[in-house]
Amino acid sequence: MIDLQLTDKTHDEERQGEALVIDAPEVRNGRKLYIESYGCQMNFADSEIVASILKDQGFETTGDYHEADVVFINTCSIRENAEQRVRNRLSQFGAEKRRNPKLVVGVLGCMAERLKSKFLEEEKLVDMVVGPDAYRDLPQLISQVEDGHKAINVLLSREETYADISPVRLNGNGITAFISIMRGCDNMCSFCVVPFTRGRERSRDPYSILAEAQDLFDKGYKEVTLLGQNVDSYKWKGADAEEHAEIEVNFAQLLEKVALISPDLRIRFSTSHPKDITDEVLYAIAKYDNICNYIHLPVQSGSSRVLELMNRTYTREWYINRIDAIRRIIPGCAISSDIIAGFCTETEEEHQETLSIMDYVGYDFAFTFSYSERPGTLAARKLADDIPEPVKKRRLAEILLKAQETSLMRLQQFVGKTVRILVEGTSKKSDLDLCGRNDQNAMVVFPAAPGVKAGTYVNVYIDRCTSATLLGTIAVEVPEIV
Ligand code: 5AD
Ligand code: SF4
Repeated sequence: MIDLQLTDKTHDEERQGEALVIDAPEVRNGRKLYIESYGCQMNFADSEIVASILKDQGFETTGDYHEADVVFINTCSIRENAEQRVRNRLSQFGAEKRRNPKLVVGVLGCMAERLKSKFLEEEKLVDMVVGPDAYRDLPQLISQVEDGHKAINVLLSREETYADISPVRLNGNGITAFISIMRGCDNMCSFCVVPFTRGRERSRDPYSILAEAQDLFDKGYKEVTLLGQNVDSYKWKGADAEEHAEIEVNFAQLLEKVALISPDLRIRFSTSHPKDITDEVLYAIAKYDNICNYIHLPVQSGSSRVLELMNRTYTREWYINRIDAIRRIIPGCAISSDIIAGFCTETEEEHQETLSIMDYVGYDFAFTFSYSERPGTLAARKLADDIPEPVKKRRLAEILLKAQETSLMRLQQFVGKTVRILVEGTSKKSDLDLCGRNDQNAMVVFPAAPGVKAGTYVNVYIDRCTSATLLGTIAVEVPEIV
């Protein structure tokens, strides 16, 4: 389960700090950057942009902060415990800074944006604070620190999409990669700090997205995940490729364009919003075999009253209608969710409604959270965080148990069947096994076989499963797809 939490999530923060290093670092005489990322896939993708900006300044990445000249921590604010983890880590970097006073320590991302200059006051060992839209300014900010000043840039932008920056792929497997297609969020879910830390929603120019996807494919990547806080509201207006006419591109159209790069390039995307996901998007998924049958569609709560308090702008019935549309248009599509336990004023009956909607949908996977009040959000200003901690915990445990039951049921449907998977590499548990995901995003583990390597598609016969993984053996070998 943990594995999925760590690797699947676009929009959530639970990934613990991972040091990101270029797989084959170019040897340079320059300085060394250590960057550690927390939170959603978007943050990890942002760190690749940061590495690219600093690479142009002669920085190479290192996986060991003891040998770094600059240490960045790309932070997450979504729940209080995410921030706590970052603070603990900063105190470790502080010890290193006492040993090596020249070390530059910078806080990037959502916590930087939320706390702004307070960070420099509270955490005396931090030299720079940089918000998610200010990464182009990093070289200048680093010089400022090297000149003996503290540096800060937390300006949010209405335009910045880093469209022209080619991310340096960090810690990748060379097979799957993320592509940011938009930034920010214009929804105002009352519990959520993201609109305050990542600013207004803006969509990236589709030509740069297509060029990035094509480039990845040319380099041997076989899967791209299009990232945004709310991909269904992707909308770009501008001149067409020949600059003859003004065109508009929506998410369904963007999906099609990326899918047409090659049938051998798999497309995933996250996160979808129930109020915005259209039938047009569903038909695009159904039309192209290489657009994966997997939708992350957070419900948050199964109660219409709670959804209204959350300002999610849909009801239980609306959500169910969207699920029915997915089941009708894309039979067999996997669906995952985010669910919050113990939101302000939630009654026991309303909690039961959440459990019952989970039964209705039969989620393939659910990310479950206990409500954590975030300063400045609508809920923090207007609603009492009145569900006692033990009640939140118990509700969360019930939701988690239900999620495990439905995951197991969904995985069991593959037992006795053959699934096509994209091999991602050796399994974490044994070098003798390979792993990869099927179309529905389920992790599949099977014994390695000669000639089957990362980046190939193989058919695997599934003979058993756990609640998180399918296990099987290679059935029919599909020749490597180039
Ligand atoms: N408390 C608990 N969970 C939250 N999320 C966002 N904000 C909060 C919060 N204040 C969850 C939502 C969202 C996911 C990324 O994190 O479920 O979809
Ligand atoms: Fe937060 Fe809602 Fe935007 Fe997701 S859609 S980032 S939960 S405000």
